[in-house]
Amino acid sequence: MKPENTTIDNNEFVENNIIWTKLAETKSFDSELQQTFKVKRDSFLVIKIDDKYFVLNDRCPHAGLSLKGGKIDNKTQTITCEWHHSSFCYKSGEVREWLKLSRFEKFLGKIFLKDNKQAEGMMEMDPTPIETFQTKILNDHVWVGMDQDY
Ligand code: FES
Repeated sequence: MKPENTTIDNNEFVENNIIWTKLAETKSFDSELQQTFKVKRDSFLVIKIDDKYFVLNDRCPHAGLSLKGGKIDNKTQTITCEWHHSSFCYKSGEVREWLKLSRFEKFLGKIFLKDNKQAEGMMEMDPTPIETFQTKILNDHVWVGMDQDY
């Protein structure tokens, strides 16, 4: 565990048990509203909506595929995974819809996943929220905050 309120280097510091890691300049989001960054063992998705930034674990809790490129709906405050159409609140991570597949997609899934127990199980998984993280802007950069134990 790192000591409280210390600067580790220019890209990381600890404040109130949170490790803050620098991700990118805010202006880089002018042309690319969704970006992924590797920090420790995980990939993080940063999305810019209006002038706010939200950080999520990039791995969809359903099958672990990337959420980058998911459809953002400002009205419902959701991001929808492109793979099997689960949607999550980008602020809290709560599940809003889980595996919203058409009958035809379900039918195809049954055919292609037949005899693949692991994949079949994935289609019957319970709804699982996505991890969200604290974020802040410092010196024109987006930072992500994680518990020290993360
Ligand atoms: S991987 Fe996201 S809904 Fe399946």
